[in-house]
Amino acid sequence: MKDLLSLQHLGQDEIDHLLDLADRFGKDGIPEAHPGAFVGGLFFNPSLRTRTSMEIATRSLGAHFIGMDAGRGTWSLETLDGAVMDGDKTEHIKDAVGKFLSGAVSCLGVRCFADMDLPYEQARQDPVLSAVAAAAEVPVINLESALFHPMQGLADQQVVRAHLNGDRTDHTIAITWAYHPKPLPMAVAHTALLGFLRAGYRVRLAHPEGFDLDPEIMQHARDEGGERLDVVHNLDEGVRDASVIYAKSWGAAAAYGPGADDESLRAPHRDWIIDARRQALAAPGAFMHCLPVRRNVVVSDDVIDGPHSWVAEQAHCRILTAAAVLHEIL
Ligand code: CP
Repeated sequence: MKDLLSLQHLGQDEIDHLLDLADRFGKDGIPEAHPGAFVGGLFFNPSLRTRTSMEIATRSLGAHFIGMDAGRGTWSLETLDGAVMDGDKTEHIKDAVGKFLSGAVSCLGVRCFADMDLPYEQARQDPVLSAVAAAAEVPVINLESALFHPMQGLADQQVVRAHLNGDRTDHTIAITWAYHPKPLPMAVAHTALLGFLRAGYRVRLAHPEGFDLDPEIMQHARDEGGERLDVVHNLDEGVRDASVIYAKSWGAAAAYGPGADDESLRAPHRDWIIDARRQALAAPGAFMHCLPVRRNVVVSDDVIDGPHSWVAEQAHCRILTAAAVLHEIL
């Protein structure tokens, strides 16, 4: 494996191999197989689980993790090719990554959310991730970008396959949009959508009108899933009889760009919350969320703390799946 920018470039057999490895690490412990190696993590946005899981996984493998906060602990980084750097950016990514970090670490993780100040067509090109991948001479791991969150996707698949038995087409995973006070990236929803379809489950995607996911990714999803994919615009309908409810908020494409008014698009949908009544409609569906989550906005306390919540397991699996990815890359 070289770069891990999304799960789309891996076959299901390669994903299953990573999940098997993660399961083995869960059973036998993570081996100190890479003593002395260095893993970099460059964070343009905050993180709790991704950062700590990468750090714990790296150290468990016997290697060292170097976490960097772009523009705070490091110089501010320019990513635009050909930029005349007479503004507020101090160092170009080509120099930071290409001329230094590539020679210092064995692989480099990057977190760079969608820049919602850019029009959606530009933001969806993942300009920061692309610039890092182009500059790097070592493998690059996407730690969540505008379009994908592969490290979350692997942990989610590990949890789901541990719980759902039998024919995968007998199980519907409902990926449900939720109200949130701020617009968020689409990366987790894209990754879950494509990942669960690729793994063979039925997926029901529920979101209000106007909150469509990326059109190119939706086309991939339709190609992958065929009749296993259903899209609805009503939350009760979305969760009904589902084995799993995976809640996630994301910003509408129309909310990207300078001066966009996302709040007026979201405000009418405050009732898109997973509460006990909705979970009961799913008979009852297990609840999943990648965290962080706004309690009693996205999900009610009784659901996230209830017996059918897989949220803690999802978060803890991040360490095992991160270790599996790093073991293969290192
Ligand atoms: N789910 C996830 O990626 O969590 P963090 O944003 O805390 O890393």
